[in-house]
Amino acid sequence: MNSALIIGASRGIGLGLTQELISRGWDVVATQRSPSPALAATGAQVANVDIDDSDTVAALAASLAGRTFDHVLINAGITGGRADTASTVSREAMAQLFWTNAIAPIRAGRILLPLVKEGGSIGFMSSILGSVGGRQSAWAELYSASKAALNSLTRGFAVQDVGNRAIAVLTLHPGWVKTDMGGPDADIDVATSVKGLADVIAAARPPGQRYVDYSGATIPW
Ligand SMILES: NC(=O)c1ccc[n+]([C@@H]2O[C@H](COP(=O)([O-])OP(=O)(O)OC[C@H]3O[C@@H](n4cnc5c(N)ncnc54)[C@H](OP(=O)(O)O)[C@@H]3O)[C@@H](O)[C@H]2O)c1
Repeated sequence: MNSALIIGASRGIGLGLTQELISRGWDVVATQRSPSPALAATGAQVANVDIDDSDTVAALAASLAGRTFDHVLINAGITGGRADTASTVSREAMAQLFWTNAIAPIRAGRILLPLVKEGGSIGFMSSILGSVGGRQSAWAELYSASKAALNSLTRGFAVQDVGNRAIAVLTLHPGWVKTDMGGPDADIDVATSVKGLADVIAAARPPGQRYVDYSGATIPW
């Protein structure tokens, strides 16, 4: 049986991916910040993690000592103030956005990497908006910059933290998805996104790092 650990699964894409992997027969541990009845209903083993507080991530790793997973996904993320720009944002709001979207995921990845099986993969939920090379607009400039920072950190993570271990690193774009974050006008529903993401995760093989969307298409860094 394949196994996965998903950080940030109370709703949206993390919840949908938990449901999708369980429907495929995977053994899933999934986390929430506060009780999510929808996550409880999936049949996943549920744990509590606030990714902003790495002590909670370390406590999870300790509670899972002795277990390993085919895939670990750091999915949690926030949009920040949608109207904020580099010209208007407060230091506090910017620090929160970069903390949750870039720093906290890498810290979590470093804490959870020992739980990834040899031959498995670790994923970071980025966005196509984090692509610097592919960027054609100034839309959502701070959220995009936070995901670009995450992308940069995942590159270093792949080289330094994973190194020669037989673990693939996935930097993922889920599509523009109808969730609380993506909004009702997004391109695809959660079911479409998570079916694709589950296929990408199931097919991931070390060595190396890929920046790919839910269909498996490569995105320019
Ligand atoms: N939707 C899109 O179109 C889209 C596109 C590109 C990338 N993404 C990325 O995909 C990921 C999931 O997005 P989504 O659309 O599913 O968003 P969502 O519906 O807003 O859900 C966000 C998830 O992240 C969790 N989270 C936020 N901050 C957290 C923290 N400090 N600790 C633990 N969990 C935390 C939330 O938990 P709570 O319920 O506790 O808040 C929730 O489970 C994010 O990283 C997002 O940036 C989404």
